[in-house]
Amino acid sequence: MGELRRKAGVAKRRLLNAKAELFPSDESYDGKFTREIGPSDYTIDKNPATKLIHARLDDAALTAIESAIGAADDEVDLPVPPGAAPKRVSLNEHWSAATGIERMRLDLVLGAYLEVPELLDATGLSTAQPPSEIHAMSHTPFAAGGGFYQADMIAGALESVGTPIAEGQRVLDFGCSSGRVARALAAAYPEAKILGCDPNGPAVEWAAANLPMAEFSKSENDPPLSYPDSHFDAVFGVSIWSHYSERLALKWYDEMHRVIKPGGHLISTTHGPESVAFYAEQGLRTTNQLSEILDAMYRSGYWYAAEFGEAGDWGVVNSDWGTSFVSAEWMLDNLRPKWQVAEYASGRNERNQDVYVLRKPVS
Ligand SMILES: C[S@@+](CC[C@H](N)C(=O)[O-])C[C@H]1O[C@@H](n2cnc3c(N)ncnc32)[C@H](O)[C@@H]1O
Repeated sequence: MGELRRKAGVAKRRLLNAKAELFPSDESYDGKFTREIGPSDYTIDKNPATKLIHARLDDAALTAIESAIGAADDEVDLPVPPGAAPKRVSLNEHWSAATGIERMRLDLVLGAYLEVPELLDATGLSTAQPPSEIHAMSHTPFAAGGGFYQADMIAGALESVGTPIAEGQRVLDFGCSSGRVARALAAAYPEAKILGCDPNGPAVEWAAANLPMAEFSKSENDPPLSYPDSHFDAVFGVSIWSHYSERLALKWYDEMHRVIKPGGHLISTTHGPESVAFYAEQGLRTTNQLSEILDAMYRSGYWYAAEFGEAGDWGVVNSDWGTSFVSAEWMLDNLRPKWQVAEYASGRNERNQDVYVLRKPVS
């Protein structure tokens, strides 16, 4: 708890500094939103899911992947944040330039994209990809096989609090869309039961029909879920609490408390101070709006705008579903003592969202 308080304190100080910098004499900010952290500051860094799957590849499989990538001279789109300009790269050059965990992930992703039989046999990864009319965070070749970055982040977060995903556990991907994270985790941990739910009917129907390694079902915009009390060892929501109004965020935190076992964990990613720098860097939000967001995080801890309009988010219509930003202090003030905050990694999700690991106390 001491360490978490320290991290929350750092986040709070950053907000205060940003505030002082933003409104030195209540005038609007001049447009510089700087980062306070670098990738080496992240505490959740083990990447266990990719390593577990990659370890199943023998030399013959690695050679087969390398030759398939070498033979492919495709120019393909890189995944970019919604609203950002498209970026095309040579698939082969992109793979050759990658090192370490990035290269391991590309082996899996591009091996699945190019349907390398040795990779598919060794890993159980599926080549099925949602068509463009079905919601997915990315439809590029780099989304093939599953979301390994996010699966690493979730599995790594659970390791970092001393409860790695284990045989017989039930783990829920809450707001799973068409299943990119659930499918990668199911491939890494076939001995655990991975489930996913989402209010986007076509996305979960596609996942249920195409991804037999996990179990998918439709959920509603508001609680409750259909699961019994204390059903899950862990639940995670990637880019879910970054979208709720304050009212619905609290309702869903309570529902998670109901379905998670005592001692189990909820991993939640939220927009926080680093996201302000992220959106400024990407040029995806105006300076005025980012100033307003920082100010709201400083003053009340929460900023929300119902940004999807009448058409909803890929057809999911809900005025309590838009974009939100939340401070670490808001999390501590609103979630304790019902939850213990076991881990906090500012900007850990794509150098944008904060990652919180919340534990349901044993008694
Ligand atoms: C930004 S996407 C993230 C999808 C997935 N977690 C991933 O990382 O690939 C947000 C998802 O939340 C879903 N969603 C919308 N309203 C929701 C709600 N009330 N509760 C849970 N999920 C919701 C959307 O349909 C969408 O699939």
